[in-house]
Formats: sequence, structure tokens, C-alpha cells
Amino acid sequence: MTVDGITQIAVIGAGLMGHGIAQEFASAGYTVRMHDVTDEHLETACIQIENNLNTLAENAIIQKESIAPTLRRIQTHTELSRVAENADFVIEAVPEDLALKQQIFEELDSICPSHTILASNTTALMPSQVGLKAERKDKILNTHYFNPPYLIPLVELIRSTDTADETVTVTFDLLTAIGKTPAMIEKEVLGFVGPRLQAALIREAFAIVEQGIASAETVDLVVRNSFGRRLSVAGPFEVFELAGWDLVLAAFEELYKDLNSSSDINPLLCQMVESGKLGVKSKAGFYSWTDDKIQALRDRMNRALIQQAKEKS
Ligand SMILES: NC(=O)c1ccc[n+]([C@@H]2O[C@H](COP(=O)([O-])OP(=O)(O)OC[C@H]3O[C@@H](n4cnc5c(N)ncnc54)[C@H](O)[C@@H]3O)[C@@H](O)[C@H]2O)c1
Repeated sequence: MTVDGITQIAVIGAGLMGHGIAQEFASAGYTVRMHDVTDEHLETACIQIENNLNTLAENAIIQKESIAPTLRRIQTHTELSRVAENADFVIEAVPEDLALKQQIFEELDSICPSHTILASNTTALMPSQVGLKAERKDKILNTHYFNPPYLIPLVELIRSTDTADETVTVTFDLLTAIGKTPAMIEKEVLGFVGPRLQAALIREAFAIVEQGIASAETVDLVVRNSFGRRLSVAGPFEVFELAGWDLVLAAFEELYKDLNSSSDINPLLCQMVESGKLGVKSKAGFYSWTDDKIQALRDRMNRALIQQAKEKS
């Protein structure tokens, strides 16, 4: 199969990630069938997609006239078979529950045509685990998007040892064709690349706060106003190539001995969860949250991401 043979996309799970993924394919001209467990979930997803498209049009990233045709390309069904039976490419974005994902992949395997590629948007599970109960293991891989999928260009592609080269090539070409930036992850490994790097950063951030070196507010201040600014325009290898690896080696020889390398979860993180300090969802974490503050943070992040998308368009 080639990317030209793909016309029908199915998205399973229309939540935070699924609706944005469906929006991306529909915006690129594909017919998309979106599945969720209730009509209410699907209606909410369609409203969110329309809101997202209006925001993109207000910021001149897309044309206002393109919104109605994009929305018409999205159909919704609460029956899995209705979205899967004609699909050429399926992306699953149901909650992070291995048993649920395995069951959905098994069902998709029995419903979809034999050529259909099955992709999971899982953050932490490996394609060999998700596709364990499906027979077409050569046509299964992960396409790991970042939130919000319609504003963050990168998608990590993770293959298992069973995934066929053709599946990887077609998926890579499909994502490129709709304007995403696919990144090939050659080995299936927990956390792929993006989540692994973020986990390393947050482990050290917790250690800094726990040891009283600096507050959480100060950590955020430092990251946002220093290397965080560089990281959106140059990757860590590019940045350190500018500095020179000899200088990096000299600086890290002592520093590495002092960094946190524990494989245990930081006790501060455990305490936060045990005491119900979950962040915005419990309105308390390192910060205290009100609805206005939560909205202000979301707006700040979206404004910056929209600005970056504008510069690219
Ligand atoms: N939220 C993120 O930032 C993020 C980023 C990258 C990847 N992911 C991954 O994407 C996946 C989805 O995450 P999310 O944040 O969109 O979750 P979510 O809870 O917002 O959405 C999941 C959707 O799946 C639906 N669903 C539940 N059971 C279903 C079933 N049996 N059939 C069809 N739909 C069903 C739910 O009703 C819900 O609408 C997870 O695997 C998650 O790890 C999330």
C-alpha cells in the first residue's frame, strides 16, 4: 500500500487528543470517522474542533471559508464497526489502559480491511503490548502526538520488531502529507524520546525543590526565561555543539556526580499525590489555582503555540 491509497481515516476516542487528531486529518482533506462511547462525547469533540478551527482562522493560519468543508468531512459514530469497516488508517486515542487498548486493537483487527494500518497514540505503552491480541502485527505502530495535536507539529513514530518497513514508510509519508513532522523512533522503549527527556527534567526539578535548592516557582522562572527559550529553536545537541563538547565534558564531570539519578520516585512527588495536591485538577499543587489562573495559563500557552504556528504558515 502507498500513501495515495489512503482516503478514509478512523479516530477511536474523541477526547483531548482524539478530536485534535481528527481535526488535523480533516483539515488536510481526508474523510474522518470519529468513534467514542456516547453521542455527548462526540458532540463535545465536534464543538471543540469548530472552536479550534475558528481560533486558527482568527489568527490567519487557515482561511475562514475552509472551516465548513473541514467539519463536513468528519462523521461520528458510537458503533466501532461503522468507523472501522472502511478505514485505511486508524488512530486510537482512548484512555491509557492497556487492557482497553488491547481489546480495541483486537476488535479493529477483526473489523478493518486487511490493508488497514492500526496506530496508537499511547504515551507510555509499546506497540507490541497494545497490538498483542491482534494478528496483523506488521501493520501496528505508535503515532505519539503531543497536546494540543493541532498546534504541536511533531509526532513520534514507534515501531515494534514486528512492524513492517512498509507500514512505517506509509505512516511517515501520510503524516508528512498532512503537514506534521514525524520523528522515527527505531526501538520500542518506555517513554520513547519526548516523554523520556521530560521525565529526566522533572526528576531533577523535583530533586532541586526537595533539597531546598530553589522553589518550584524559581525552577519554572529559570526554565522559561533561559534554556527553555533556546530549546524551542534549537535542540540540545545543536545548543551544545555551539558550546563545544570539550567544554561540556569539563562542566559535566563534576556536576553529574551531584545530579539525581535515582530510579525511585521522588518522595516529594509521592507526598503531593497522597495529600491530594494534584495540580489544576484539585486546584492545588506547587501553586494554588483558581479558574481564572488556570484559564490564564492555558491562554498563555496557546497564544505562544499559535504564534509559532503562524510563523511556520
Ligand atoms: N493528554 C495528553 O497530553 C496526551 C498526549 C499524548 C498522548 N496521550 C495519549 O492519548 C490517549 C488519549 O488521551 P486523552 O488525553 O485524549 O484522553 P481523554 O480522556 O481526553 O480521551 C479519551 C476518550 O476516549 C473515550 N473512550 C473511552 N473508552 C472508549 C472506548 N471503549 N471506545 C472509544 N472511546 C472510548 C473517552 O470517552 C474519551 O472521550 C492516551 O493513551 C494518552 O496517554 C495523551
